[in-house]
Amino acid sequence: MTDLRALFGIEHPVVLGPFGGLSSVALTAAVSEAGGLGGYGLYGYDGDRIRTTIAALREATARPFAVNLWLPRGDEVEPNPQHSVFAQALQPFYEAVGVPVPPRPDRYLPPLDEQLDAVWEAAPPVLSVVFGVPGSEIMDEARRRGIRVVGTATTVAEAVALDEAGVDAIVATGLEAGGHRVSFLRPAEESLVGSVALVPQVVDAVGVPVIAAGGIADRRGVAAAFALGASGVQVGTAFLATEESATTDGHRDAIRSTAADGTVLTRAMSGRLARGARNRAVRAIEASGTIAPFPMQNWLTGRFRAAAVEQGLGELQSLWMGQAASLARHRTAAEVFAELRAGVPEAR
Ligand SMILES: Cc1cc2nc3c(=O)[nH]c(=O)nc-3n(C[C@H](O)[C@H](O)[C@H](O)COP(=O)(O)O)c2cc1C
Repeated sequence: MTDLRALFGIEHPVVLGPFGGLSSVALTAAVSEAGGLGGYGLYGYDGDRIRTTIAALREATARPFAVNLWLPRGDEVEPNPQHSVFAQALQPFYEAVGVPVPPRPDRYLPPLDEQLDAVWEAAPPVLSVVFGVPGSEIMDEARRRGIRVVGTATTVAEAVALDEAGVDAIVATGLEAGGHRVSFLRPAEESLVGSVALVPQVVDAVGVPVIAAGGIADRRGVAAAFALGASGVQVGTAFLATEESATTDGHRDAIRSTAADGTVLTRAMSGRLARGARNRAVRAIEASGTIAPFPMQNWLTGRFRAAAVEQGLGELQSLWMGQAASLARHRTAAEVFAELRAGVPEAR
């Protein structure tokens, strides 16, 4: 165990998980201001938006924070003629929210190089990555700029690969976690390990501090993570339900009222396996049997999901959340943080 406080320059070893597409500067800054490490998801952001966002984060807090990028896994599809076939399959959803079936765009996602250039320029205190091992170019550039690098593992083998690449800390994320399964060595369906089994085995296998994620939503989960050998915790769902988060009231209510067995792992919304509520959109897309590969499906569903958010239609949004959702009882980031902090052992 290494002290995360010294590594990141924070007071308490509590990390706010990044939310690709749903992070807010207010929530990230609130967690950093409370003495933890706020995280911000940059999924889908182009270079300009990354620069503006990191500037806004610096404006909102003088304390350390992390930004998060998805590394290409190599199986991402580019826009191609299949686009219109998969778009047609989702036609009832577009109709339900009154938007046209979206034509094929030039690209689904900004290239990683564009995102990295902006990150290097802005030099955030911490860069966390998912879906892969950061290559030596990323590690060298981060070192040069004094940026700490955090990798994310869903299996022991992934954690070992990250350790060998020289990351500063590893998030070990159990299958309880909300959002995407960020597996990269084997298919996500074959990389489903619960936090209680995953965390101590990762701790035993790597030399860097391990941050436990997945299913932690109150002081009991935090205490358990430290008992398993973790050096810190990363929490998503409980913070997603707070006032400072960028999500909708409908999503907040859904988090509080979803039982431990009320979430599913599904490819329906993005083409990659992710955990969320099994709402009407998930059920209907799964029943149709037609799911485009990532990131095409994510882009296609994103067009009706955005409209559903504006119209308050929870059944047509992505209601991402983890298995500990109903433990999210607190209303503000400061309250959630105080609850989690109470579980950190005195000696930490
Ligand atoms: C809506 C949502 C979006 C997420 N997006 C990302 C992301 O872009 N990158 C990432 O590393 N983790 C992402 N996560 C995972 C969280 O950062 C965190 O690790 C996870 O929520 C922890 O498990 P918990 O939900 O049980 O607290 C996301 C989680 C949720 C709920």
